[in-house]
Amino acid sequence: MPPRPRQRPLVANWDTLQRVFIRPEDETVRRTLLKYMEQILFGLHDFLRDHVGITQAIRLKDLAEGYGDSRIPAEPERKLAEVIQGLVEEVAPCAVNVASPYFIGHMTSAIPYFMVHLQTLVAALNQNPVKLETSKVVAVHERQVLAKLHRLVFRRSPAFYRRHIQRPASTLGCFVEDGTLANLTALWVARNRCFPRRDGFAGVEAEGWAAALTAYGVEHPVVLVSQRGHFSLRKACGVLGLGHRHILTVPVDHRQRMDLDALSRLLDRHHDSRRRSRVMALVGIAGSTETGSVDPLPELAALCAPRGIHFHVDAAWGGPTLMSDTYAPLLEGIQQADSVTIDGHKQLYMPMGCGMVFFRDPRAMDAVAYHAAYVNRPGSADLGIRSLEGSRPATSLVLGSALAIMGRRGYAVLIEHGIDTARRFAAAIARRPAFEVITAPQLNILTYRLVPSDLRGRLCSPDSSRRQAANARLNHINLQIQRLQREAGRSFVSRTTLDLPGLGDTVVLRAVIMNPMTTLEVLEDILDEQEALGQRVCRAEDPTA
Ligand SMILES: Cc1ncc(COP(=O)(O)O)c(C=O)c1O
Repeated sequence: MPPRPRQRPLVANWDTLQRVFIRPEDETVRRTLLKYMEQILFGLHDFLRDHVGITQAIRLKDLAEGYGDSRIPAEPERKLAEVIQGLVEEVAPCAVNVASPYFIGHMTSAIPYFMVHLQTLVAALNQNPVKLETSKVVAVHERQVLAKLHRLVFRRSPAFYRRHIQRPASTLGCFVEDGTLANLTALWVARNRCFPRRDGFAGVEAEGWAAALTAYGVEHPVVLVSQRGHFSLRKACGVLGLGHRHILTVPVDHRQRMDLDALSRLLDRHHDSRRRSRVMALVGIAGSTETGSVDPLPELAALCAPRGIHFHVDAAWGGPTLMSDTYAPLLEGIQQADSVTIDGHKQLYMPMGCGMVFFRDPRAMDAVAYHAAYVNRPGSADLGIRSLEGSRPATSLVLGSALAIMGRRGYAVLIEHGIDTARRFAAAIARRPAFEVITAPQLNILTYRLVPSDLRGRLCSPDSSRRQAANARLNHINLQIQRLQREAGRSFVSRTTLDLPGLGDTVVLRAVIMNPMTTLEVLEDILDEQEALGQRVCRAEDPTA
């Protein structure tokens, strides 16, 4: 948006810059700085409450027309108060109100208010945990926070944590920006541990793939993951030079969990020195992105251990389920993993981005250690030695505080609300004749679709082409419903396409229940809206219906 014309132009000079670097040293300044915080904390909330549901009904194409300016202004254009007001009134309404209880389509949701305060503190301190010289106590604090989550996952003995928690040579895990980088870090370690240094070969990290394959007599290194694996794993295999075609997908059973017979066959075929093939890692999922399904982790661990295969669990979504004594058993076997991804910005209700990866063996990350002459020198306790990222925010200050404020019980209440509400939602869907549940919730994600009565019968037809035609029509209807609901901006459910036995590609509506304000009444409202939209779509295409 162009700035409003002003009487006295703003200028950038040494004096005005002094004011930008202001410190709250006297009362007037303090009051002014507080005023800006109020504008963010309350102004934003009030504006969104009064003006938007999920988002304003404006098309991206129209929005984009207002954002075509590629020049940096030569002189200052706006004061801070104006900038905040602009963000509140112009940007926020057309962004997505992910905190709405009616926003149940993605893994991003409301966060507790204290996160905003803690995030401000991180910016105010502006520490850089890459090295002790820019973080000091933050580095040891971070090690403590990582140890708490490591203990939640791996349940090692108190003596283990006493030994490793602050030992510079041990790394229990690390913070990264997101789940994508956490998965990449895990597979990076797995790759380097699969092709380590040996006589005359300095290791794959140093010499690259061609030398590694020659040194180990391998022609076909692969990674195995279920059909439901997150696409970040494919990216990781691309970045690591394995090639994303060499991440092989294992079919899933009717509960969307890795099919163990199919997995055994793939392991026999691809982890065989006579065939010069090797499985670099097997990835189990604890809460798949599309369906929330959890792979049979104990069985996967049992297949990996005797073969010496790195077992990674992508618990980016489901990891925090371990906080709940009631539902932690759903993730049984995770403690046998070699590495585990957990995203704080998902079910630990952290602001973006708080990816983490943990390793059962505190020396595993030695496989990715790097040093430099000016920082991260050998023997130092700098966290940047074993970390994909360099400079990064002190996210552990927020997460450590959140763990203190919430406690395990606080998080358990949120997790249990999500899973219990998802189950009640599935029952509510099943009660409605116009809908069917496609994948029941194992955690707090479920998929379903609208099935008008005239098509329901055709889905059961013995004639497969009639069945396929009905499914194609249902795909079209559900796609339209999802799109129209999103555009109306009152509620949001996402969609995906699952390859289902007997039906093939099937468009489903996907609900992620994590907002504690999302009640069954809200969910019934969302179904009512979808049902009405379904009728509209069917009528528009067949006015006689
Ligand atoms: C199971 C799983 N793994 C990894 C990721 C990647 O996380 P991020 O989007 O934080 O990179 C996601 C994201 O949805 C996920 O659901």
